Amino acid sequence: MTTSSTSNSTIETLLNRRSIRRYKQEPIDEVTVAAIEEAAQHAANSQYLNDWSAIRIKNQSIKDKIAKIGHQSYIAQAPLLYVFVADEHRNAAVATKAGVHTESDEFTLNSTYRLIQSHNDAVLALHAMETAAESLGLGCVILGTVLNDTPGLIELLHLPKYTYPVLGLAIGKPDQEPAIKPRLKRSAQFFDDAYPEDDGAILNDMGDFDQEVHRYYDLRRPDRPVEKFSDQIASKSVDRGVFKMALTKHAPAQGFDLER
Ligand SMILES: Cc1cc2nc3c(=O)[nH]c(=O)nc-3n(C[C@H](O)[C@H](O)[C@H](O)COP(=O)(O)O)c2cc1C
Repeated sequence: MTTSSTSNSTIETLLNRRSIRRYKQEPIDEVTVAAIEEAAQHAANSQYLNDWSAIRIKNQSIKDKIAKIGHQSYIAQAPLLYVFVADEHRNAAVATKAGVHTESDEFTLNSTYRLIQSHNDAVLALHAMETAAESLGLGCVILGTVLNDTPGLIELLHLPKYTYPVLGLAIGKPDQEPAIKPRLKRSAQFFDDAYPEDDGAILNDMGDFDQEVHRYYDLRRPDRPVEKFSDQIASKSVDRGVFKMALTKHAPAQGFDLER
């Protein structure tokens, strides 16, 4: 539901979006799969490099292994599961065939800049796929937990040099109806011309938002109320072991240079 009087079916799809983590155990037909895959392919991409790929996980034992990496059982039950990948491998192969030497100092596809941009491109494509799927009545959840063991995922999916896994996307016919999670007031997230100097603009309405989030009913934890937003932010802003591990152990120090 929008507070604006302008709407259409695209805006309604976006405003009604919420993560779906339980799916009817029914396959998604291939015509639908083709439609949402093509929608993803039409997302904008940096320099027209088309530098992402998505691995569709069909094999149940691979789904199970990814669910184990993510510590989330619903990953294994998703009728459709993708892992989106930042991918300059394909471009490196194309460039090599066209005469470029990947070992030369002038080779740029292995740079940190390209890793960031191809990462952006993969996220944009994933979001286009998510929106397309939701517009067709399907439910999705984005999966960052697939990166709990990035080297393990790279090995499992045989990801080659100049690739890096970005996010998972689980899709299926919804078998739950979670409430739409509240969002911040628009004025706390959209600013005119420059970032506000006074944090009051950000913090003013936080009390009301805290209460709204506290009232939100999360199907994942029906036995306890959701923590206030400020408390969630406070607990997520200190290391619980995962963050440091992800940064020091898994993130490539330079571009795509993770050993493989
Ligand atoms: C980058 C990213 C990673 C996420 N990773 C996970 C995940 O691993 N598991 C999960 O259940 N939800 C995951 N989510 C979903 C978020 O928890 C969810 O979008 C957020 O709580 C807002 O709720 P909503 O999607 O229902 O509006 C992820 C979302 C994003 C954008």
